[in-house]
Amino acid sequence: MKIAICPGSFDPITLGHLDIIERATELFDRVIILVMSNSAKQSAFTVEERIELIKKCIKNEKIEVDTFDGLLIDYAKKSGAAAIVKGLRAVSDFDYEFQQALINKSLYPKTETVFLPAKGENMFLSSSMVKEICRLNGDISPYVPEEITNDIYLRCKGDK
Ligand code: PNS
Repeated sequence: MKIAICPGSFDPITLGHLDIIERATELFDRVIILVMSNSAKQSAFTVEERIELIKKCIKNEKIEVDTFDGLLIDYAKKSGAAAIVKGLRAVSDFDYEFQQALINKSLYPKTETVFLPAKGENMFLSSSMVKEICRLNGDISPYVPEEITNDIYLRCKGDK
């Protein structure tokens, strides 16, 4: 059985993430969405809340959700994952993602990193952008699954 991990902070999950995850299920037998903390980012939702939001949007039986507080590659090793699947948006993602892929490969060569190009309409979509639009009372519905739109408004909407 070929397992893939889709790691990220998912704060919150967006339609861009979901597109990559769904496409990964076409390539692998099982896909684990791995919710992690990114030390470089301040989060709006706790890890537990992010997992609950993801579970509200996932219907595919090939997908499961987990969390891990450590090196991504240690989780890959322990779960026997064949690949880490990442979405690549505009060139700005490339440096960081390439660095991560090389470090992970050197730590544990058996797990590959596979990059899937983001769909055109998701090229500039990010969780940070969703939170900013929400904070300034814009419409986030084109960017996030409808099951969680209200949860995001409740947490991130500004007072204006
Ligand atoms: O959605 P993000 O914030 O871009 O996800 C980044 C994440 C959480 C996948 C990345 O920061 C990560 O892999 N963190 C775990 C620590 C790790 O293994 N780092 C790589 C070696 S330095």
